[in-house]
Amino acid sequence: MKILVVGGGGREHALCWKIAQSPLVTKVFCAPGNAGTATIAENVDLAADDIAGIRAFAVDHKIDLTVVGPEAPLCLGLVDELQKANRKCFGPNKAAAEIEGSKAWARELCRRHRIPSPQHWTFDDLAKARAFLDLREPGPIVVKASGLAAGKGVAICKKPEEAKTAIIDCFEKRRFGEAGAVVVFEEFLEGQELSVMTLTDGQTIVPFEPARDHKAVFDGDKGPNTGGMGAFSPVPVPSRTMAQIEGQVVFPTIHAMNREGRRYQGFLYAGLMLTAQGPRVLEYNCRLGDPETQPLLMRLKSDLVPLMLATVDGTLDKLDAPVWDPRPCVTVVACSGGYPGDYKKNVPIQGLAQVVGSADLQVFHSGTQKKGGDVLTAGGRVLAVTALGADLIAARAAAYAALQKIEFVGMHYRKDIGGGR
Ligand code: AMP
Ligand code: GLY
Repeated sequence: MKILVVGGGGREHALCWKIAQSPLVTKVFCAPGNAGTATIAENVDLAADDIAGIRAFAVDHKIDLTVVGPEAPLCLGLVDELQKANRKCFGPNKAAAEIEGSKAWARELCRRHRIPSPQHWTFDDLAKARAFLDLREPGPIVVKASGLAAGKGVAICKKPEEAKTAIIDCFEKRRFGEAGAVVVFEEFLEGQELSVMTLTDGQTIVPFEPARDHKAVFDGDKGPNTGGMGAFSPVPVPSRTMAQIEGQVVFPTIHAMNREGRRYQGFLYAGLMLTAQGPRVLEYNCRLGDPETQPLLMRLKSDLVPLMLATVDGTLDKLDAPVWDPRPCVTVVACSGGYPGDYKKNVPIQGLAQVVGSADLQVFHSGTQKKGGDVLTAGGRVLAVTALGADLIAARAAAYAALQKIEFVGMHYRKDIGGGR
C-alpha cells in the first residue's frame, strides 16, 4: 500500500515512523513533512492546507490511504474532497471536524447533549462582551477565540483587566484573524488535565490509553500556553474516573455527532479537566494531539494501519483492541528561542547523529528542514525526544539524557515533563 501522511510536525513524524513499520505498507509520502520524515518517507512539497494540490497528488500517485494529521485540512474538508475523488482518507469530514473548528459550536453540542463542560457564554461583538464582563462578579474567567488558533487562542484571565485585554485582542486587534471574530467565555475550572484520544468509525469506539501534555512554556506550568512542551503516557487515572470519562464524555459525544447527522470517523481528542465534581470537557480536537501522539505511538504495539483502514471502512468492530506497551513513555519538546513568541528560523541543529534511535528512544522532528548537509530549525517547536523506560523516572532520565546531546542556539525546553502535577 502507498500511504500519504499530511502535515509536517512531530505528530506526523511519529505517524510516518509507525506507519512505515506496517507490513502492509510499501511506500510512505509526507506532505510537506520535515527533515525527520525525510529519513523514512518521501517528502512532497505541498502545504498541509493545499487541498487541491493534495487531492491531485493522491489521485496521480494512486495513494491507497491518506492520513491527515493537523486540524486545518480537516476543517477545510480534505477528507470530503478525497472521498469525492474515490481515494480513502483517514480523519473526520468537514462537518464532523467542526467539533474543533468552532469552540462555540462544540460548547453548544455539549449543552444540547448534556455532556459535562464548563458554563460558557458566546459573543460576536466587543460592546456586548464588555458589558457581560462589567456585570459579572469579579473572579477568574477563560477567554477563547472560537476558531482555530494553533493552541494559542486561550487566555486564562485571573483579573477583569486581563479579560478586557483578551477581548480587545480578538475583536479589535484581530490577533487571531477570523478565528477571533467569535469569542467564548468559560467558567474557570480547577483540577488535573487529561488528554483522551479515541479511535472511532462512528459505531465502534476504541479509547486509547490516556496521556497528559504540558502546555505552558515554562517549568511549573508558568508562562503563556504553547502547542505543547511535552507529554507522557500512561497517566495513572483510577479506573472509575476512566469509566466516567468514557460514559459521560467520549461515548455521548460520538453518539451526539451521529444524532446530529455528523458521523465521526477518525481520532477524537477530548481535553479534560478532572474536577472535584467529575470530568469536564475543556476542548475537543478532531485529530491526535501533538505531542501526545509521540508517547502514544511509541507505546502502541499493534499495527496502526489496519486500525485506520477499518475506521475509514466502518469495520472497527472486526478488529481486536489495540495492545499497549505497559511501560511509561515521556516526550520532551525542544523549542526555538523566543517561542511561543517570535523566534528565529534557519538555526543549525547539532548533535542529532549522537542520538541513536531504537524501539525505546526516538527523536521526532517538528519544525526542521534539511539544507545541504545541515538540519536547520524551521519552526517554534523544533523536535522532541521520546523515550520508554521501566518506570516514569527511567523514561524521563532517558529522554533528558538524549536531549542533552542535541544543541542549537536559543534552544529551550521544560525540565519537569512527566513530573509534578
Ligand atoms: P484549550 O485549547 O481550549 O484546551 O485550552 C488550552 C488550555 O487552557 C487547557 O489545556 C487548559 O490548561 C486551559 N483551559 C482551557 N479552558 C479552561 C477552563 N474552562 N478552565 C480552566 N482552564 C482552562
Ligand atoms: N497538545 C495539545 C494539542 O495537540 O492540541
